[in-house]
Amino acid sequence: MCGIIGYAGHRPAVPILLEGLKRLEYRGYDSAGVAFIQNKELELLRAEGKLVGLETKVNGRDVTMATSGVGHTRWATHGVPVERNAHPHKDNSGRLAMIHNGIIENFQEQKDWLIERGYTFASETDTEVLVNLISEGLKETGEGVLQALSWALARVEGAYAVALVSLDEPGVIYAARQSSPLVFGAGTGENFVASDIPAFLNYTRDVVFLEDGELVRMDANSWQVLDALTLEPIEKQTNRIDWDVQSAQKGGHKHFMIKEIFEQPKVIADCLAGRVDLKTGTVRLPELEGLTSPKRLHIVACGTSFHAGLWGMNLLESWARIPVRVEIASEFRYRDLLLDEDDVILAISQSGETADTLAGIRRAKQMGASVIGLCNVVGSSVARESDHVIYTQAGPEISVASTKAMCSQLTALYLLALHWGAQKGTLSAEVTQQGIAAVHELPGLLDAELPAMRERSKELARKYSGVSSFMYLGRGLNFPLALEGALKLKEISYIHAEGYASGEMKHGPIALIERDFPTFALAMRDDLLPKVKSNLEEVQARDGRIIALTNPGLDMGVDDAWVIPEVWGPLSAFLALPCLQLFAYEVADYLGKDVDQPRNLAKSVTVE
Ligand code: F6R
Repeated sequence: MCGIIGYAGHRPAVPILLEGLKRLEYRGYDSAGVAFIQNKELELLRAEGKLVGLETKVNGRDVTMATSGVGHTRWATHGVPVERNAHPHKDNSGRLAMIHNGIIENFQEQKDWLIERGYTFASETDTEVLVNLISEGLKETGEGVLQALSWALARVEGAYAVALVSLDEPGVIYAARQSSPLVFGAGTGENFVASDIPAFLNYTRDVVFLEDGELVRMDANSWQVLDALTLEPIEKQTNRIDWDVQSAQKGGHKHFMIKEIFEQPKVIADCLAGRVDLKTGTVRLPELEGLTSPKRLHIVACGTSFHAGLWGMNLLESWARIPVRVEIASEFRYRDLLLDEDDVILAISQSGETADTLAGIRRAKQMGASVIGLCNVVGSSVARESDHVIYTQAGPEISVASTKAMCSQLTALYLLALHWGAQKGTLSAEVTQQGIAAVHELPGLLDAELPAMRERSKELARKYSGVSSFMYLGRGLNFPLALEGALKLKEISYIHAEGYASGEMKHGPIALIERDFPTFALAMRDDLLPKVKSNLEEVQARDGRIIALTNPGLDMGVDDAWVIPEVWGPLSAFLALPCLQLFAYEVADYLGKDVDQPRNLAKSVTVE
């Protein structure tokens, strides 16, 4: 997830681009850059790190003559977060400059093709490949930038929102989108494109929402939307936006947490991008090249990432037949460990900066084990110190309570279990194919379900937010989800909550059950459901009220059944997780809590 902005108008462009980037910085802050044409030169200014680095570079320059340009704030996906990988990227001729948000899945194939034609590359990015493909398109089509852009877009697969400037057409910006956000802003004597409305909300409130496969050509006084492939014009309506800048940054939502919960369908799709091949029914994880499936795996993580690890353990053991231990990093780092070269550590961390997880990695490496980092932040300490890194591609998570990051971790763990299962031959090709086809359907299904889930969570939040304690129960794959549901509720609503394996209830916690200590049960259809039902009867016998997350056709006989669609095998977690998150969110919001920044917590725990 990156932020992009393009401006064509009558004012100095660079300050407007910088102001827009500041509003988009929540989308990524690994590096930033701008491109503009001034004195017949196409200039790039780029800097590593937060926007202030770019501002310092700009401050030393006279950039007042440029009245159009593009700007980018980067959340790294390809290549480490250093200046040479920062956007914009120029083509080999130096006459085109492009910014990009997304992932070009077939970039390596296109890069090899361009190298054969003599192109050279200064960065590791997929964006530099695309801008050179446009350059090649100019030669192939013998026409202008518009046709060359369309020619190149027809050759790439993946997700993109791009904006392009050319020295041959000063004052013109081209932009296009496929599966990454892009909005157009229509001003008076000036026009804008950006990843998100807040980037230009101070200048215009008239917005056109661009759809996948659309391209916009704009200059200061005109704009036109076209089909990116056929270049046929498309009629578009402008929409008047009433939001203020802050709510616009949250996509019109009240909090980042709810925005991030709703981003989960895209998060799953982004994590799968380039890693599954539907035609051959295979998983590709080039990140693990040179590493065979481990003899023993130790998953090391904290908090929500630990819960993702517990869920992953079930799949890895069952599909790949690898013995897995899951350990809380703060315990692991101080234990008298038994590790050697046969052991592999899977360190799961959203931020990649959690002190305990890092300490665990360092100890394991000292003892000869190898480390796979599963993290979200490119170039983070966990990523740098691991022997192999799988990025979860969830984009920046702003809300302190982790939601979409866990969804992306589950997706990556699911892929890992399929990958090793297929590699070891412990999982049949048929089940692997079924697993790939089913997960591919998931983003669309979840997207369609989320609005109804939100409504149900609101109803239940109103009914239950008066209690002071909650029990969360689940068995098997649902046990880690019960732990996560309890963690979400307690950390943002401050209601005491305990997550338990359903079968463990009778060994103590059942003593707590009474009418005002309700239970949230994960009771979806699986082999263990009859056991879960018996455990719930034990709760009901003590007058305990129950919310049961369940599937159609299952008569749970509880106070509040919350029915969600049934999906293939372990994928039910991807529907259950947002329900748990939404319930916690709606309770906390109903109680007026500071949802995005709960008391006493920090987004990244860099101390012991
Ligand atoms: C809970 C939460 C924390 C983190 C934990 C680990 O909502 O966000 O429990 O999951 O601090 O953080 P990472 O994954 O960054 O190592």
